Amino acid sequence: MAEQTPAEVIRDFAAYVSPGRVALYEQLGFAAVPGEREGIYLFDTEGRRFINCRCGEIFNLGHRNPAIIEALRRALDTLDIGDHALLSAQRAVLAKRLAQLMPGDIQYSVFTPSGGEAIDLAIKIARAATGRTGIVSASGGFYGHTGLALAAGDPAYREPFGPLAPGFTQVPFGDIAALERALDESTAAVLLETIPATAGVLVPPADYYPAVRRLCDERGIVWIADEVQVGLGRTGNLWAVEEWGVAPDVMVIGKGLSGGLYPISATCYRPQLNGIFEQNPFIHTSSFGGSELGCAVALAVLDQTTAPGFQENVRERGNQFMQGLTALWEKYNGLVIDVRGRGLILGVELARPDLGPALTMLMLRHGVLAIYANNRPSTLQIKPPLIINAEEVEQVLQALDQSLQMLISMR
Ligand SMILES: Cc1ncc(COP(=O)(O)O)c(C=O)c1O
Repeated sequence: MAEQTPAEVIRDFAAYVSPGRVALYEQLGFAAVPGEREGIYLFDTEGRRFINCRCGEIFNLGHRNPAIIEALRRALDTLDIGDHALLSAQRAVLAKRLAQLMPGDIQYSVFTPSGGEAIDLAIKIARAATGRTGIVSASGGFYGHTGLALAAGDPAYREPFGPLAPGFTQVPFGDIAALERALDESTAAVLLETIPATAGVLVPPADYYPAVRRLCDERGIVWIADEVQVGLGRTGNLWAVEEWGVAPDVMVIGKGLSGGLYPISATCYRPQLNGIFEQNPFIHTSSFGGSELGCAVALAVLDQTTAPGFQENVRERGNQFMQGLTALWEKYNGLVIDVRGRGLILGVELARPDLGPALTMLMLRHGVLAIYANNRPSTLQIKPPLIINAEEVEQVLQALDQSLQMLISMR
């Protein structure tokens, strides 16, 4: 393939992929074409370097992590995607490893290419197990853009595509009384991102998940934890729910499980929810679900994520960020009105919704890719790869300091 200039790529992307995205990135001053990438860094084809604090949850272990590349290379020597309808040593090994690591008695795993598909399956399992249809999720949440996941998400993304599957209700996140009011005898599942990122990196009170667990137990409702973003170490625990000391019935994971190199997601669930697969083990299939290459990658991801010291780094860097962000909140009080998060998922709350996109743009100018929360644009999300070191955290904080300074002078 002949090498294209960045201008040609942008032209062709606008002509053949998405004129809308090109227009938006031009508006943000970021019509850049990603080129080389390594560790926490992403370079554009003009050689500009960005610390990638946007997509850390896919690139938890950095871009092109050498050990993951090696695992994929080795797998390519003998394996391919595998036949999803047959048995598989790779799927068995990965599922067993996940069962050992999961909270509570979560045991079975079904693998899918995308997180949205894994959420769809979680909802199907909950409906089949309870014989009910109602799904209660959090307003402003994001669970994917497939059928049932879309129906559980934000109205802006589902309304153009109706009629959608019925039975979905949204409630404010973190408000146990609102959740309790929304539950009735038709409720099959409560679906919550443990810390909803797209809704603005919301951290619920200490008694929230214990109360969710109690309500679900009392009423025979399935609790589905969406940890597609916050699982696999992002919060400084392997699973974000660990902080609340309770276990869900279904855990959905994805993104980082891929090592940024081979798509794989999973719906992991307790044994008592397996009835539908006992009736018909082929009732849910996916040609690329649990690709054997993807399983090899995911195992290598789990090895690194559970290695001694890995979570400590996330916690220490998270504390360093939180201290720095708190100082910036004091320095720019009135412009910054809150900082929150856990481990390396952090949100900087600004005084107005238009300030999130403006700060995103300024951060890009300072070499950091960190994007406002889609369903709450007043929040800037900071989600670096989990391998970020202390010096690099300082660089992000400095970029934020300089960007906030510029934002003040622009107001
Ligand atoms: C919390 C959460 N759940 C589900 C999904 C859907 O995952 P995918 O894009 O792999 O379908 C995403 C994607 O961003 C997500 O952030």
